[in-house]
Amino acid sequence: MTDLELIQMAKNAAEYAYAPYSDFYVGAALLTEDGKVFTGCNVENASFGATNCAERTAIFKAVSEGYRSFTKIAIATRNGSVAYPCGVCLQVMQEFMPNGNVIVEKDDLIETYTVKELFPKGFVL
Ligand code: THU
Repeated sequence: MTDLELIQMAKNAAEYAYAPYSDFYVGAALLTEDGKVFTGCNVENASFGATNCAERTAIFKAVSEGYRSFTKIAIATRNGSVAYPCGVCLQVMQEFMPNGNVIVEKDDLIETYTVKELFPKGFVL
């Protein structure tokens, strides 16, 4: 699974985004250690606070089906603007993919970051 393929899957997932409040439609594609892909989209709510980001949707789908170890997550938006993961999603990534990569597309170029560089000092128990 190349980074570009994963970005394409994230773009497809953004088509399912439910974002009537922000009008910002996000998709994510998550690669498990053993090569399976889970996708997710943002799911907003009238209360705003109950909104779930695309990244967490994908991670929670995977964890709820027995997968707990991930190598990469790609994030894409319907309008093509870049979306770097929020702090809450990075905290969740630290839990399940501390050595993983985050892939985004900016100005038609693929950018790859480590979870560690985006979130060097997350909370640990
Ligand atoms: N959002 C995501 O789904 N992922 C990100 O990386 C950034 C933000 C969503 C949350 C909300 O539905 C909308 O984008 C605007 O913040």
